[in-house]
Amino acid sequence: MESRAPSTLSMTEFPVPKGVFAEAAVSVHHYTQKLFKFRMTRPRSFRFRSGEFVMIGLPNAAKPVFRAYSIACPSWDEELEFYSIKVPNGPLTQHLQKIKAGDMILMRRKPTGTLVNDALLPGRRLFLFSTGTGIAPFASIIRDPETYEKFETVVLTHTCREVAELAYGQELAALTYDDPLVGEEAQDRLTLYSTTTREASAVTGRITHLLNSGKIFEDLGIEPLDSTKDRCMICGSMGMLHDTKSLLQDMCFNEGSNRDPADFVIERAFAENDS
Ligand code: A2P
Repeated sequence: MESRAPSTLSMTEFPVPKGVFAEAAVSVHHYTQKLFKFRMTRPRSFRFRSGEFVMIGLPNAAKPVFRAYSIACPSWDEELEFYSIKVPNGPLTQHLQKIKAGDMILMRRKPTGTLVNDALLPGRRLFLFSTGTGIAPFASIIRDPETYEKFETVVLTHTCREVAELAYGQELAALTYDDPLVGEEAQDRLTLYSTTTREASAVTGRITHLLNSGKIFEDLGIEPLDSTKDRCMICGSMGMLHDTKSLLQDMCFNEGSNRDPADFVIERAFAENDS
């Protein structure tokens, strides 16, 4: 369901706080009762590195509630895209899920985050492990030419409870294979591995189980993880971050940061977003 009609809530007299951009929603698409994406205008001066996040809010209170959102588009995009969960009674998302084209959206000026190429040492293969809306930062990473300069192959895994929740990732992969900038590289070197845990699909099971059992490597016909050559990014719920991180640490992967690049990075900012 695509909505592009201007809304009555648009551009109020809201006094925009210092350090905040006031932008307009351009389009909204609802995937399921729990998931939607929106695009908004991009401030001309706004720059970000692929994989970073910003704080997003709405002009609906004197002190707006802000939540961390990964920027889910390439750094050259003229608009900004975000992928969101709808948390019932969530301070931000109970309102954000109702936005329509033309509505005002607030965005703090400074992007930040650890899911960036700069926080990883050079390597051969890049593994991007995501669950749910944790795929959002990777929507930016897999469309960045630097990713294909730095790594020979990229494996994006996306695990959700149900099949309908995999749609965003599948749409993203199709767009990337067709991308004018990285399409050719992606067709040869990017693989999407989608799995479900509470409904039957081509591959079922948590990513942690699929890594432990080695099924992912069998399915894709690739070598098991090797900390001397492979680099990883992880984005999902607190539990998923914790379990995937310990699994990698058991395989001698070291956690990196912007200041101290290493073998894998995780982002804690969105875990339990909007509760
Ligand atoms: P499961 O259905 O077995 O809980 P959520 O919507 O709760 O964030 O879950 C999104 C996906 O992440 C689900 O497929 C869920 O599997 C999976 N998941 C939840 N916790 C973990 C974890 N600790 N490790 C790996 N995957 C997880």
